[in-house]
Amino acid sequence: MAVDPRLLCRWFLSLLGLLLLPLLGACERMPDMGGLQSALHPEGPAAAHTASLWWVMFWGAMAILGLVLALSIYVVRSRPENRPKINGMYLIIAGGVLLPLLTLTPLLFYGIRMSGDLRAPTGQESVRVEVIGHQWWWEVRYLDRNGRPLAITANEMHIPAGQPVEFIVRAADVIHSFWVPKLAGKIDLIPGMENRIVLQASQPGRYRGQCAEYCGVQHAHMAFWVVAEPDADFRAWIVDQQRPAIAPHNEQEVGGKAAFQAIGCAGCHSIRGTQAQGIMAPDLTHIGSRQTLGAGTMDNSEAALARWIVHNQDIKPGNKMPSFEDLDPLRARALAAYLWSLK
Ligand code: CUA
Repeated sequence: MAVDPRLLCRWFLSLLGLLLLPLLGACERMPDMGGLQSALHPEGPAAAHTASLWWVMFWGAMAILGLVLALSIYVVRSRPENRPKINGMYLIIAGGVLLPLLTLTPLLFYGIRMSGDLRAPTGQESVRVEVIGHQWWWEVRYLDRNGRPLAITANEMHIPAGQPVEFIVRAADVIHSFWVPKLAGKIDLIPGMENRIVLQASQPGRYRGQCAEYCGVQHAHMAFWVVAEPDADFRAWIVDQQRPAIAPHNEQEVGGKAAFQAIGCAGCHSIRGTQAQGIMAPDLTHIGSRQTLGAGTMDNSEAALARWIVHNQDIKPGNKMPSFEDLDPLRARALAAYLWSLK
């Protein structure tokens, strides 16, 4: 039997495409990301559910693809006179009704049952955190039993490892989406609405999260970290975060604190325990204890703080803070030293 060479070529390309599929998974293993945001390497129960769902759907799709390919090969390779004669109505009922019903119905029920497990708070969560999405940063408030804020921070959340933590998410401006791929699925932050999701990390560790809904030019620089710690460390952290800012230790830091008021930082930022009570921008009471600046844009350090203050519009163009390029370098260094001291 002669087979059309163009058909053979198409078969070959399809097969090659199939063989190359696993390479798609390489994106999440890029050296700079280190699989940090891989939903296929879950570190918590909700993410494990999502990963199982993904694998079930993947192998289900592969089985259907295999069946379709096998039938296509059979049609191409067999002689028409050798093929069994099947009644058309029988084919429609078997292939068009029964097969989809038998494959899709179990998947549907599996998906519905799974999504119920994903984000429902159980009422057992001992820690509740409110997260408010802003262009382009995350306001984080730890709530007491009465829903009043205990501690306020930004772009970094600490949770006790092995315990479910309820996150109540809202948006201050446009729609954002809160996603820590290794811990749970996504949840949208929608203006005027309150959504909830539960995060639980099986092990202590640092988990990167990312805004997953396009929200403006700096959407990609709207990341955050979830730090899961042993319970005692978490309790110590939350006590620290509730404390007002410590006083400057030396002359340089005193100068930095004065500069903070003088150049207008206090108009937008709060440093609890000082005159700075701004509410437009991240609370800086413990900025020196955070791991990143600019919502995960750069690692935090005294030098990074100085660079951020002077050049932030080059680092994260369009963010709401102006660059202070005309600031006297000594003053910029003093400001950075003061902020870095706020552990
Ligand atoms: Cu916030 Cu994308």
